[in-house]
Amino acid sequence: MQMIPRSLKLTALAVALASTPVGAETLRLQTKNLTLEFEVGEGGRLYQRPLGTDMKRERLQRADEAYPQAGDGYIWEPALQVVHADGNTSTALVYDGVERNPEAADREMVRIKLRDPAYAFEAALCFRLHRDRDVVEQWTEIRHHEPGAVTLERMASSSLLLPPANVELTHFYGDWANEMNPVTERLTPGTKVLDSKIGVRAHQFGNPSFLLSLDGPATENSGHVLAGSLAWSGSFQFAFDHFGERVRVLCGVNPFASAYHLEPERTFATPVMIWVWSGAGFGEMSRKLHGWAHEFGFRDGRQPRTVLLNNWEATGFDFDFNRIAGLFEPAKELGVELFLLDDGWFGNQYPRVNDHAGLGDWEPNRTRLPEGLAPLAAEAVKRGLRFGIWLEPEMVNPKSALFERHPDWVIRQPKRELELQRNQLALDLTRPEVQEFEWNVIRDILSVPNVSYAKWDCDRYLTQSGSAWLGPDRQSHLWIDYVRALYALMDRTAKAFPNTELMLCSGGGGRADYGALKYFHEFWPSDNTDPVRRVAMQWNYSYFFPAMTLAAHVTHWGDRPMHFACAVAMSARFGMDLDLAKLPAQDKAVCAGAISAYKRIRDVTHLGDLYRLEPPQGAMRGALNFVAPDRSRAVVFVFQLKEGQPLPVRPQGLDSARKYAVRELNPAPGRAALPQEGRTFTGADLMRDGVVPSCAKAVEACVVELEAEP
Ligand code: DGJ
Repeated sequence: MQMIPRSLKLTALAVALASTPVGAETLRLQTKNLTLEFEVGEGGRLYQRPLGTDMKRERLQRADEAYPQAGDGYIWEPALQVVHADGNTSTALVYDGVERNPEAADREMVRIKLRDPAYAFEAALCFRLHRDRDVVEQWTEIRHHEPGAVTLERMASSSLLLPPANVELTHFYGDWANEMNPVTERLTPGTKVLDSKIGVRAHQFGNPSFLLSLDGPATENSGHVLAGSLAWSGSFQFAFDHFGERVRVLCGVNPFASAYHLEPERTFATPVMIWVWSGAGFGEMSRKLHGWAHEFGFRDGRQPRTVLLNNWEATGFDFDFNRIAGLFEPAKELGVELFLLDDGWFGNQYPRVNDHAGLGDWEPNRTRLPEGLAPLAAEAVKRGLRFGIWLEPEMVNPKSALFERHPDWVIRQPKRELELQRNQLALDLTRPEVQEFEWNVIRDILSVPNVSYAKWDCDRYLTQSGSAWLGPDRQSHLWIDYVRALYALMDRTAKAFPNTELMLCSGGGGRADYGALKYFHEFWPSDNTDPVRRVAMQWNYSYFFPAMTLAAHVTHWGDRPMHFACAVAMSARFGMDLDLAKLPAQDKAVCAGAISAYKRIRDVTHLGDLYRLEPPQGAMRGALNFVAPDRSRAVVFVFQLKEGQPLPVRPQGLDSARKYAVRELNPAPGRAALPQEGRTFTGADLMRDGVVPSCAKAVEACVVELEAEP
């Protein structure tokens, strides 16, 4: 079957005309270039036309059900599997109307209602359509009025149908310090499952985002591309069910050990699945998704981020007031704007001097910080820096006063030896006392005067998922209720501290999703800060997440030249994790230059459009550029990974007619100036002929600003 015919290439006029249901039996949900078409078939069941096909001529089959239910004739992977209050394991939903509500000029909310005629059971397929961005947020709401609880065995957020030919899937696997490795494969008959079963820090081994190209391999600038990202920080499952003539993509919480007993009159809302469409490759897809994210996906998306200095790589657990305060003056001199105090500042009965003890006891350590946190924060502010603090509210060391007081507050299995990770356990956030405890911890820490930034860490996942609170009948609720309680806590935090910037951290990319990011400003993509590794990692995260959400700190990982490390960090949300007192003068000068360059370009890199130019995986170099929304400025990054020729790099997205002055930012000491330095070229010339960078040797970088004439 040939993919992507006319229906995906609609003109704006066609979009306007088609924004209402066509006839009584067909529902057409549209963004600018994407059509989701549903049809009510025989017996009232709801069907979906596989995305991008003109299947009017084809007869609807059970395989085409829009949200298939188990137990009444559907034989492939179902979206919904329910045990009703009377024990019946079948569900048969029929169409029960649609509600369409405009939310803004380019935004519509659609709810397709379904009900089971034999049971007081209903589901609503919910879609928020962002028309101009080609973004669809999709989720499902399930509700019933049966005489007792029903059990949801499976409850997908989305179960999109695609045609089967030439579908390529790119997903991202990894582990701690080795996150976001892409793998691309063609979908073939059978079911391909990507999932996580570890509940907390759930993305340690794979990110809940993927790319699909629908007509064979796509590139940055060509191909029909659908990207999906599940806004969920817990165990997830994507099942790509390829059965002959269709591919169904089932996305949602992982049904593994997660049967959910839904009481009458309560609504179960699944997590939101975010879909983005592009008919022009991965680049356009990312720009659309980033545009959505700046507005809806994370906090303060229009506010470029400051320069941060963290002490973790510099001091580890080994510090006191004077050691930390001693970092402020050199930081300020260098141009740093915000200081982040990491792990190790708390615990008295069991001081947190390493990762074996003290977690859970959140009083400042009296030896290290005799007067508490406030004087240190005040000292930072006196020196002209903002002050931030590390916390890990969900966790506890068994060697802590908290665990001694409340051994039943942790997630564990009775009769089993405690399994520790990094010497710690997760607190059971489904328990109300734990919710209150964690809130009090967060509130007290963030209320310390002058604290305006926090890093929320999470350094283990779940392996013994037992809750003393949930009791014998609801153990399987833990996976879902934990994440819901977590979001309630994050929401409370964001609302109570609207001016406090928040970094989401989970030992790296263990929590990199739009479910949690909604309450945060940025996330920590990896503990691996080797800039060579970061070039590829940040590239891969950038498919889904804007540069300003990717915390990138300059460290000594990999022992790379400082100039290269700074350039890589400058292409995202710049920070440093260095002992400035020990930094050689030459490196200090490079850092100072990078900081001032970052301040100059951050409005472009953070608020502009990203163009990925040359993929770094296995290549000599990687290159990308950002363009300001008004196209008056652009910044080109070239990261040389292996020795090569200084071949021109061709920026994209410039205004062809305008003239841009070329200028290298923070040039590396000792390298010749760019051949085009200081000269002016039209956007068309630059996009055609490129800019010749100053780098050709391995681990050299070049950052070039293009500034349009007024
Ligand atoms: C894991 C984080 O990824 C690190 O940056 C650091 O904050 C440590 N935790 C502290 O324990």
